[in-house]
Amino acid sequence: MKYKKRQFYIENVSAEKIAKKFGTPSYVYSYDKIKNNINNFKKKFKTINPLICFSVKSNSNLNILSIIHKFGLGADVVSKGELLAALKAKIKPEKIVFSGVGKTIEELKFAISKKILLINTESENEIIEIEKIAKKNKKKINIGIRLNPDTDAKTLKKISTGKKENKFGLTEKKFLEVLKKYKNSKYINIICLSVHIGSQITSHIPYKNMLNVVNKIIQKSKFKFKYIDLGGGMGIQYENKFKKLNYSKYNKLIESFLIKNNSNIIFEPGRSIVGNAGYLISKIIYIKKTNSKNFVILDTAMNDLIRPALYGAKHRILPSKINETKVSKNHEFVGPICETTDKFLNVTRYQKINQKDIIVICDVGAYGMVLSSNYNLRPRPAEILVNNNSTKIITKRQKLNNII
Ligand code: LLP
Repeated sequence: MKYKKRQFYIENVSAEKIAKKFGTPSYVYSYDKIKNNINNFKKKFKTINPLICFSVKSNSNLNILSIIHKFGLGADVVSKGELLAALKAKIKPEKIVFSGVGKTIEELKFAISKKILLINTESENEIIEIEKIAKKNKKKINIGIRLNPDTDAKTLKKISTGKKENKFGLTEKKFLEVLKKYKNSKYINIICLSVHIGSQITSHIPYKNMLNVVNKIIQKSKFKFKYIDLGGGMGIQYENKFKKLNYSKYNKLIESFLIKNNSNIIFEPGRSIVGNAGYLISKIIYIKKTNSKNFVILDTAMNDLIRPALYGAKHRILPSKINETKVSKNHEFVGPICETTDKFLNVTRYQKINQKDIIVICDVGAYGMVLSSNYNLRPRPAEILVNNNSTKIITKRQKLNNII
């Protein structure tokens, strides 16, 4: 973390300055961190030369997508809205994949009209609909088929997607059946096998298991897939004591997979590209002291950042100015919303803090603003991009007039 003269800095701008200039709560992103995350990702997976499609669901801000485009990434989208955003950020259609279990016919038609790289299908009924559209347009459409490898991602249950009880993809048996049925279709061109077992995966072992299943099914099918889309899920380090995914180990696994299967790899990372580049800056409204704990009531809440309430996720909360006085008492950081789950974090010992102090919630660049809502009729926060010592509003704070 970057403290200079006891003040928290995002690149070369202090959190205090941002709070004063733009108000709180505000999401703030570091341009440099996004750039470094992309470069590091590319470097670590260089030997397999993947097509990296940023998972737009993790952060769909147009300015962020433009940075993603600037550094050469494509996009993984799951709705017409995300596809429009990716195209508006000038991401080329031939670098866009469309995933999701429930694409509507309108969405399919739209994606086909934009000539994107491929549509990752998740059911036979979806393929039937694509075939109908293709027939009408006298076109052959590139698709992927998503496999459900029945692999445990060893992550939070609520963000696991690769077990057979999850709604995603096709079981091995169904996958082979569908492949056989459509591989010689006049209108469907199966070019990809896709798979995504979950998010925030911090060990390479679940990926190893997943690759084994993928490898086996390819051998069984005797089909040559031009692309293997391995999805995203690369875990980041939310707290220093936890580990993050070792990219080099994952890369090695893929290298040996590619010796057996000569395909092009697609990745769909979201969190690993933007997660640690985002901060939520908030002000303390009140500190309510009880015998057992101090409730630190913030001006941000679960409507702005729902990860703690929804998944029990923990995000570090740092003071914007450090002091030496420690208070050994449980501090419970909460929001003002009328829900018991509107709670961010418990800390047993914290520095002395006061009402009106500014705090910084870390690692909220992915699944932060995109999951925000107007619950309790609270306007959504502003989004600010920091690049060196310059700041730019990339989303204006919502006005009550616009939501009432
Ligand atoms: N590809 C597919 C098909 C996905 O479903 C996802 C995430 C990704 C790629 C990107 O995964 P990532 O690299 O970001 O882990 N809201 C939850 C995470 C939900 C992830 C949904 N799918 C959270 O805040 O942890």
